[in-house]
Amino acid sequence: MSKITVVGAGNVGATCANVLAHADVFNEVVLIDIQGNMAKGKALDTWQQAPIDSYSTRLVGGDDYALTAGSDIVVITAGIPRKPGMSRDDLIATNAKIVVSVTKSILEHSRNPIFIVVSNPLDVMTYACWKASGLSDKRVMGMAGILDTARYRAFLAEELNVSPKDIQAILMGGHGDTMVPLPRYTTVSGIPVTELIKKEKLDAIIERTKFGGGELVNLMGTSAWYAPGAAAAQMALSIIKDEKRIFPCCVRLNGQYKLNDIFLGAPVKLGKKGILQVVKLKLRKGEMELLHKSAEAVKEVAEALDAMKVV
Ligand code: LAC
Repeated sequence: MSKITVVGAGNVGATCANVLAHADVFNEVVLIDIQGNMAKGKALDTWQQAPIDSYSTRLVGGDDYALTAGSDIVVITAGIPRKPGMSRDDLIATNAKIVVSVTKSILEHSRNPIFIVVSNPLDVMTYACWKASGLSDKRVMGMAGILDTARYRAFLAEELNVSPKDIQAILMGGHGDTMVPLPRYTTVSGIPVTELIKKEKLDAIIERTKFGGGELVNLMGTSAWYAPGAAAAQMALSIIKDEKRIFPCCVRLNGQYKLNDIFLGAPVKLGKKGILQVVKLKLRKGEMELLHKSAEAVKEVAEALDAMKVV
């Protein structure tokens, strides 16, 4: 029996629950929202999709955390999204309180779940969840790198006229404009991307990737949901199936990459016990500098959170 809770029945949470249902791996997906009827309705709608798309995953929804009892994994998407002109960091005060209270409510009903945080500002909300939970840092992580690399891979697929399936990439740093794409570790079916694309084109794609979330906010007036929801689901699936897949995720670094006590994007191996390993890349000097710059930007927001004393 495996069970996952998705907190927040907005666009990201509902998409995540829908993708999880289609994977047909969890026995139960619980959708929780302060708007209980919305969560109940979206869970019911996804359950009614089961006979059409042929899955057995049971879905329930509401505002009562008792529904979440015994969850193996919890995805937190609750919080307000960005509006045009806002940075992810502008959301900190509102979303930190929400993430902390959600984390505590979950732990009243599930003893030792694995948390996947999706709320923004991502790196610092993951830190807030970990601090509020008192859990091992192997069991609290954030979703950003899969989304950011997915954007990068999609742009590359378009430019090279190849399938996005064949593009592998890794990216590090915070979920923001300081993220650090690593072209050296980008391949197309094993072929280094640098052999296939001109430097100027690649640089332009990297720039577009850094502002990929903002591009969508400007188009839609709110932040993205299909790729973010699917990315969080992919992490949950690697964990529950003990697949040991390697993804860029937001993780607490404790000495790796000469960084300490900070939640930041790095490649990790995900399995049944959560983060099984932080993969250490041999970064070059310039890459390391960019990573540390990104860490400084995240640290500033983390210090702002500490000063708020919400956790
Ligand atoms: C984005 C939001 C989810 O990057 O952070 O689209």
